[in-house]
Amino acid sequence: MADYDLIVIGAGPGGYVCAIRAAQLGMKVACVEGRGALGGTCLNVGCIPSKALLHASHLFDEAGGHFAKMGIVAEPSLDMDRMQDYRAEQVKELTGGVAFLFKKNKIDWIDGWAKIEGAGKVSVAMNEGEAKTFSAKNIVIATGSEPATLPGVEVDERRVVSSTGALTLENVPKKLVVIGAGVIGLELGSVWRRLGSEVQVIEYLDHITPGMDGEISKQFQKILTKQGMTFTMESAVQGVDASGDRLTVTYRNRKDESEETVEADIVLLATGRRPYTDGLGLEDAGVAMTKRGQVETNGGWKTSVDGIYAIGDVIDGPMLAHKAEDEGMAVAEILAGQHGHVNYGVIPGVIYTDPEVANVGKTEEELKAEGRAYKVGKFPFMANGRAKAHFATDGFAKVLADKETDRILGVHVIGPSAGELIHEYCVAMEFGAAAEDIARTCHAHPTLSEAMREAALACGDGAIHV
Ligand code: NAI
Repeated sequence: MADYDLIVIGAGPGGYVCAIRAAQLGMKVACVEGRGALGGTCLNVGCIPSKALLHASHLFDEAGGHFAKMGIVAEPSLDMDRMQDYRAEQVKELTGGVAFLFKKNKIDWIDGWAKIEGAGKVSVAMNEGEAKTFSAKNIVIATGSEPATLPGVEVDERRVVSSTGALTLENVPKKLVVIGAGVIGLELGSVWRRLGSEVQVIEYLDHITPGMDGEISKQFQKILTKQGMTFTMESAVQGVDASGDRLTVTYRNRKDESEETVEADIVLLATGRRPYTDGLGLEDAGVAMTKRGQVETNGGWKTSVDGIYAIGDVIDGPMLAHKAEDEGMAVAEILAGQHGHVNYGVIPGVIYTDPEVANVGKTEEELKAEGRAYKVGKFPFMANGRAKAHFATDGFAKVLADKETDRILGVHVIGPSAGELIHEYCVAMEFGAAAEDIARTCHAHPTLSEAMREAALACGDGAIHV
């Protein structure tokens, strides 16, 4: 008899959710995690600590800005040690919360680093004591991702940092250079700009946040520029020289091939992430990989070896915690004989800057490429009463619907609480709704959600308040 029905490798949002769902469905489950805490990148060095710092720095910014306009007289000053303690406390509570859920669901946490010895067999280099081997009917690989490297840029997590080091800086850098205008660069760049850094973002492409709806991306860059972030576009970073007191970043302008340098106190490398499979023994176990270093799966999260599955950042698709969670639940359900499913057409994406940026479904560029006839309904937050009262009028909501059937195809929002507002449309899209369905749904007044309804109205006879 096997030790377990299921061994999950990695306790990030994909792995721990998979373990919990499997236990709920009656399986005997263990989860191998070697970092000393549960929750993976997301809870320890990603989503949660970054959102803590985004929240704190946003309030600091507001206190120094809009507070006075509302009659709140406050001269904010920064206690960086306390802010960092607050970040660490949030992480501790949430990772502890996962440990509690494991206990509640009778899931064994195997504290060490796993290697797959073949179907049904996992050896673990335990953090304490001797290596152990465990057997299981099924194995799920949920080992996530790690920051990608860039030739010429050596990350020391002190002065040249990845997203991990950028969360634990002890002082506000005078000048921060961010390499890459993607999600990580813009979120963490926002944190340090609000706390007082001069932030320069160097981006390879001619637009920020690749893959985002073009109109939103342009507006986003405008707003961030207005806030004081500077952008050096179409420039490829060649290297960072860390030999002097200050760092020297060299980049090549892609238009005229000229090379320039800029000095910085801290450099954040944020040029993407790559699947993490070190030490897992996948090659020896016969698990096939894609050319991009991802674990190959068959669409049902099955790898090339029977009884071994993979989910989350380590396989194809967007590297998002909630995508991994959904895959984790689906695999557990499949292993329990149910019909686990993930609708990849309705996975929202959110950037937690201020304003927030959120999207679900197709971009205009994608619809054009498909040759699909569509209509656009837009509504600016400037015309939303609640947003106006909050001094949060930057941005707009945009709904893309099929020209003939009115079915919602994509939604893109830049504006206050966009990351919450988007979910009304996620539900609607799961039900195959038309823009008119949202337009005819009563929305409470005064709410930011009214802007979402107005954008749907704009797909029909027109929005009311513009
Ligand atoms: P990204 O792929 O979003 O952006 C990387 C950027 O770096 C791109 O714009 C790329 O053109 C640029 N770049 C690449 N090489 C360069 C060079 N040599 N010089 C200048 N620019 C260069 O990657 P990022 O921001 O590191 O995020 C990694 C992953 O983590 C993404 O998949 C993202 O979705 C995920 N993530 C999601 C979050 C969220 O949902 N809020 C938060 C943080 C990360």
